[in-house]
Amino acid sequence: MNVKIFDTPAQVASALARRVADALREKPDVVLGLPTGRTPVAMYAELRRLHAAGEVDFGRAVTFNLDEFAGVDASHAGSFRRFMEQHLFAAVNLAPQRIHFLNGAAADLDAECKRYEQEIEATGGIDLQILGIGANGHIGFNEPGDELVSRTHRVTLAETTRRDNAALFRGDPSRVPREALSMGMGTILKAATLILVAMGARKAPCIERTINGPLTPHLPASFLQLHRRAELYLDRDAASLLTTRSVR
Ligand code: PGA
Repeated sequence: MNVKIFDTPAQVASALARRVADALREKPDVVLGLPTGRTPVAMYAELRRLHAAGEVDFGRAVTFNLDEFAGVDASHAGSFRRFMEQHLFAAVNLAPQRIHFLNGAAADLDAECKRYEQEIEATGGIDLQILGIGANGHIGFNEPGDELVSRTHRVTLAETTRRDNAALFRGDPSRVPREALSMGMGTILKAATLILVAMGARKAPCIERTINGPLTPHLPASFLQLHRRAELYLDRDAASLLTTRSVR
Protein backbone atom coordinates (compact mmCIF):
# COMPACT_ATOMS: atom_id res chain seq x y z
CA MET A 1 0.00 0.00 0.00
CA ASN A 2 1.18 3.47 -0.82
CA VAL A 3 1.23 5.47 2.42
CA LYS A 4 1.34 9.28 2.41
CA ILE A 5 1.79 11.06 5.73
CA PHE A 6 1.04 14.76 6.16
CA ASP A 7 1.80 17.04 9.10
CA THR A 8 -1.74 18.31 9.61
CA PRO A 9 -5.35 17.31 8.83
CA ALA A 10 -5.63 20.47 6.68
CA GLN A 11 -2.77 19.23 4.51
CA VAL A 12 -4.45 15.83 4.14
CA ALA A 13 -7.66 17.54 3.03
CA SER A 14 -5.99 19.75 0.47
CA ALA A 15 -3.90 16.89 -0.97
CA LEU A 16 -7.04 14.77 -1.29
CA ALA A 17 -9.02 17.55 -2.96
CA ARG A 18 -6.16 18.06 -5.42
CA ARG A 19 -6.14 14.31 -6.09
CA VAL A 20 -9.88 14.39 -6.90
CA ALA A 21 -9.43 17.54 -9.02
CA ASP A 22 -6.63 15.81 -10.98
CA ALA A 23 -8.82 12.75 -11.51
CA LEU A 24 -11.58 15.00 -12.90
CA ARG A 25 -9.15 16.74 -15.24
CA GLU A 26 -7.74 13.46 -16.54
CA LYS A 27 -11.16 11.86 -16.95
CA PRO A 28 -14.08 14.33 -16.83
CA ASP A 29 -16.61 11.47 -16.65
CA VAL A 30 -14.75 9.81 -13.76
CA VAL A 31 -16.84 7.58 -11.48
CA LEU A 32 -16.17 8.60 -7.87
CA GLY A 33 -17.00 6.58 -4.77
CA LEU A 34 -17.60 8.95 -1.87
CA PRO A 35 -17.61 8.67 1.93
CA THR A 36 -19.40 10.56 4.68
CA GLY A 37 -18.25 11.16 8.27
CA ARG A 38 -16.07 13.79 9.94
CA THR A 39 -12.94 12.78 8.04
CA PRO A 40 -13.92 14.03 4.54
CA VAL A 41 -15.56 17.30 5.68
CA ALA A 42 -12.48 19.46 5.05
CA MET A 43 -11.81 17.73 1.72
CA TYR A 44 -15.35 18.58 0.57
CA ALA A 45 -14.85 22.19 1.72
CA GLU A 46 -11.69 22.37 -0.35
CA LEU A 47 -13.48 20.88 -3.39
CA ARG A 48 -16.23 23.51 -3.03
CA ARG A 49 -13.54 26.20 -2.95
CA LEU A 50 -11.77 24.79 -6.02
CA HIS A 51 -15.09 24.58 -7.86
CA ALA A 52 -15.98 28.19 -6.97
CA ALA A 53 -12.54 29.24 -8.24
CA GLY A 54 -13.26 27.53 -11.57
CA GLU A 55 -10.57 24.92 -10.99
CA VAL A 56 -12.72 21.82 -10.86
CA ASP A 57 -15.62 20.79 -13.07
CA PHE A 58 -18.02 18.04 -11.98
CA GLY A 59 -20.22 18.47 -15.07
CA ARG A 60 -19.70 14.94 -16.40
CA ALA A 61 -18.69 13.16 -13.20
CA VAL A 62 -20.63 10.27 -11.70
CA THR A 63 -20.82 9.57 -7.96
CA PHE A 64 -21.78 6.62 -5.79
CA ASN A 65 -21.87 6.99 -2.01
CA LEU A 66 -20.73 4.11 0.14
CA ASP A 67 -23.64 3.72 2.50
CA GLU A 68 -26.88 5.03 3.99
CA PHE A 69 -28.92 4.46 7.14
CA ALA A 70 -31.93 2.18 6.81
CA GLY A 71 -35.34 3.68 7.48
CA VAL A 72 -34.43 7.27 6.66
CA ASP A 73 -35.27 8.97 3.39
CA ALA A 74 -33.09 11.41 1.49
CA SER A 75 -34.65 14.46 3.14
CA HIS A 76 -34.09 13.22 6.71
CA ALA A 77 -31.68 15.51 8.60
CA GLY A 78 -29.58 12.52 9.69
CA SER A 79 -29.32 10.88 6.27
CA PHE A 80 -25.99 10.64 4.50
CA ARG A 81 -27.75 11.98 1.41
CA ARG A 82 -28.47 15.21 3.33
CA PHE A 83 -24.87 15.28 4.55
CA MET A 84 -23.65 15.10 0.96
CA GLU A 85 -26.09 17.81 -0.18
CA GLN A 86 -24.73 20.09 2.54
CA HIS A 87 -21.06 19.36 2.06
CA LEU A 88 -20.77 18.91 -1.71
CA PHE A 89 -23.75 18.35 -3.99
CA ALA A 90 -25.51 21.70 -3.49
CA ALA A 91 -22.33 23.66 -4.15
CA VAL A 92 -20.91 22.00 -7.27
CA ASN A 93 -22.17 21.27 -10.79
CA LEU A 94 -22.85 17.54 -10.39
CA ALA A 95 -25.77 16.47 -12.60
CA PRO A 96 -28.53 15.09 -10.32
CA GLN A 97 -29.01 12.05 -12.58
CA ARG A 98 -25.34 11.13 -12.14
CA ILE A 99 -25.54 11.16 -8.33
CA HIS A 100 -26.20 7.62 -7.10
CA PHE A 101 -27.29 6.85 -3.57
CA LEU A 102 -28.67 3.93 -1.64
CA ASN A 103 -32.28 4.66 -0.67
CA GLY A 104 -32.58 3.76 3.00
CA ALA A 105 -36.35 4.23 2.80
CA ALA A 106 -36.87 1.71 -0.02
CA ALA A 107 -39.76 -0.71 0.62
CA ASP A 108 -37.57 -3.71 -0.24
CA LEU A 109 -34.07 -3.09 1.11
CA ASP A 110 -32.57 -6.26 -0.37
CA ALA A 111 -33.85 -5.30 -3.83
CA GLU A 112 -32.44 -1.81 -3.29
CA CYS A 113 -28.99 -3.32 -2.64
CA LYS A 114 -29.20 -5.35 -5.87
CA ARG A 115 -30.27 -2.26 -7.81
CA TYR A 116 -27.22 -0.38 -6.51
CA GLU A 117 -24.80 -3.13 -7.53
CA GLN A 118 -26.34 -3.14 -11.01
CA GLU A 119 -26.02 0.64 -11.31
CA ILE A 120 -22.34 0.48 -10.39
CA GLU A 121 -21.80 -2.26 -12.99
CA ALA A 122 -23.74 -0.29 -15.62
CA THR A 123 -21.40 2.71 -15.30
CA GLY A 124 -18.40 0.44 -15.86
CA GLY A 125 -17.32 0.47 -12.22
CA ILE A 126 -15.87 2.98 -9.77
CA ASP A 127 -12.62 4.63 -10.84
CA LEU A 128 -11.63 6.30 -7.58
CA GLN A 129 -13.11 5.25 -4.25
CA ILE A 130 -12.38 7.41 -1.21
CA LEU A 131 -12.83 5.72 2.16
CA GLY A 132 -12.89 6.72 5.79
CA ILE A 133 -12.25 4.14 8.48
CA GLY A 134 -14.20 3.57 11.68
CA ALA A 135 -12.26 3.48 14.93
CA ASN A 136 -13.24 -0.23 14.97
CA GLY A 137 -11.74 -0.75 11.49
CA HIS A 138 -15.01 -0.71 9.57
CA ILE A 139 -15.03 0.40 5.93
CA GLY A 140 -18.28 1.82 4.62
CA PHE A 141 -20.60 0.10 7.09
CA ASN A 142 -18.82 -3.25 6.83
CA GLU A 143 -18.54 -3.88 10.55
CA PRO A 144 -15.94 -6.20 12.14
CA GLY A 145 -17.24 -9.73 12.68
CA ASP A 146 -16.68 -13.39 11.90
CA GLU A 147 -17.58 -12.89 8.27
CA LEU A 148 -17.90 -10.16 5.69
CA VAL A 149 -20.47 -9.84 2.92
CA SER A 150 -19.00 -9.19 -0.50
CA ARG A 151 -21.78 -7.25 -2.24
CA THR A 152 -24.01 -4.33 -1.26
CA HIS A 153 -26.14 -5.49 1.65
CA ARG A 154 -28.08 -4.68 4.82
CA VAL A 155 -25.97 -4.39 7.95
CA THR A 156 -26.65 -4.24 11.66
CA LEU A 157 -24.62 -1.35 13.02
CA ALA A 158 -22.17 -1.86 15.88
CA GLU A 159 -23.09 0.04 19.05
CA THR A 160 -19.81 1.99 18.78
CA THR A 161 -20.78 3.04 15.25
CA ARG A 162 -24.22 4.20 16.43
CA ARG A 163 -22.52 6.28 19.13
CA ASP A 164 -20.04 7.71 16.60
CA ASN A 165 -22.93 8.84 14.39
CA ALA A 166 -25.10 10.31 17.15
CA ALA A 167 -24.28 13.89 16.09
CA LEU A 168 -26.43 13.35 12.97
CA PHE A 169 -29.38 12.35 15.19
CA ARG A 170 -29.55 15.22 17.68
CA GLY A 171 -26.68 13.77 19.70
CA ASP A 172 -28.75 10.77 20.80
CA PRO A 173 -27.26 7.33 19.93
CA SER A 174 -30.66 5.69 20.54
CA ARG A 175 -32.06 7.67 17.57
CA VAL A 176 -29.39 6.30 15.21
CA PRO A 177 -30.95 3.55 13.07
CA ARG A 178 -29.93 0.01 14.02
CA GLU A 179 -29.50 -0.96 10.39
CA ALA A 180 -27.90 0.49 7.31
CA LEU A 181 -27.17 -0.37 3.69
CA SER A 182 -23.57 -0.53 2.58
CA MET A 183 -21.44 -1.45 -0.38
CA GLY A 184 -19.76 -4.75 0.48
CA MET A 185 -16.02 -5.30 0.75
CA GLY A 186 -16.06 -6.96 -2.67
CA THR A 187 -17.88 -3.98 -4.19
CA ILE A 188 -15.29 -1.66 -2.66
CA LEU A 189 -12.29 -3.75 -3.71
CA LYS A 190 -13.48 -3.68 -7.34
CA ALA A 191 -12.78 0.07 -7.60
CA ALA A 192 -9.76 0.80 -9.80
CA THR A 193 -8.10 2.96 -7.12
CA LEU A 194 -8.80 3.11 -3.39
CA ILE A 195 -7.81 5.96 -1.10
CA LEU A 196 -8.21 5.38 2.61
CA VAL A 197 -8.12 8.54 4.71
CA ALA A 198 -7.53 8.71 8.45
CA MET A 199 -6.78 11.51 10.85
CA GLY A 200 -6.22 11.63 14.59
CA ALA A 201 -4.65 9.38 17.21
CA ARG A 202 -7.92 7.50 17.74
CA LYS A 203 -7.45 5.88 14.32
CA ALA A 204 -3.75 5.02 14.85
CA PRO A 205 -4.20 1.44 16.20
CA CYS A 206 -6.46 0.29 13.36
CA ILE A 207 -4.24 2.01 10.76
CA GLU A 208 -1.25 0.11 12.08
CA ARG A 209 -3.18 -3.18 11.87
CA THR A 210 -4.60 -2.28 8.44
CA ILE A 211 -1.07 -2.06 7.08
CA ASN A 212 0.84 -4.65 9.10
CA GLY A 213 -1.76 -7.02 10.49
CA PRO A 214 -3.20 -10.24 9.08
CA LEU A 215 -6.22 -10.18 6.78
CA THR A 216 -9.20 -10.65 9.02
CA PRO A 217 -12.93 -9.87 8.92
CA HIS A 218 -12.40 -8.56 12.45
CA LEU A 219 -10.64 -5.63 10.77
CA PRO A 220 -12.43 -5.09 7.44
CA ALA A 221 -9.84 -2.47 6.38
CA SER A 222 -7.13 -5.17 6.38
CA PHE A 223 -8.57 -6.45 3.06
CA LEU A 224 -7.23 -3.32 1.39
CA GLN A 225 -3.86 -5.12 1.45
CA LEU A 226 -5.21 -7.23 -1.43
CA HIS A 227 -5.77 -4.21 -3.68
CA ARG A 228 -3.22 -3.30 -6.33
CA ARG A 229 -3.83 0.43 -6.06
CA ALA A 230 -4.56 1.29 -2.46
CA GLU A 231 -3.29 4.57 -1.07
CA LEU A 232 -3.46 5.79 2.50
CA TYR A 233 -3.63 9.51 3.26
CA LEU A 234 -2.80 9.98 6.94
CA ASP A 235 -2.04 12.82 9.26
CA ARG A 236 0.85 12.43 11.66
CA ASP A 237 -1.38 11.34 14.55
CA ALA A 238 -3.10 8.57 12.57
CA ALA A 239 0.34 7.41 11.41
CA SER A 240 1.89 7.60 14.87
CA LEU A 241 2.10 3.82 15.42
CA LEU A 242 3.78 3.10 12.09
CA THR A 243 7.52 2.60 12.01
CA THR A 244 9.59 3.77 9.04
CA ARG A 245 10.09 0.13 8.12
CA SER A 246 6.37 -0.66 8.06
CA VAL A 247 5.63 2.38 5.91
CA ARG A 248 8.14 1.24 3.31
P1 PGA B 1 -15.35 9.49 10.84
O1 PGA B 1 -16.03 8.14 10.40
O2 PGA B 1 -14.79 10.10 9.59
O3 PGA B 1 -16.46 10.32 11.39
O4 PGA B 1 -14.29 9.16 11.83
C1 PGA B 1 -15.32 7.30 9.54
C2 PGA B 1 -16.10 6.05 9.28
O5 PGA B 1 -16.86 5.62 10.17
O6 PGA B 1 -15.95 5.48 8.20
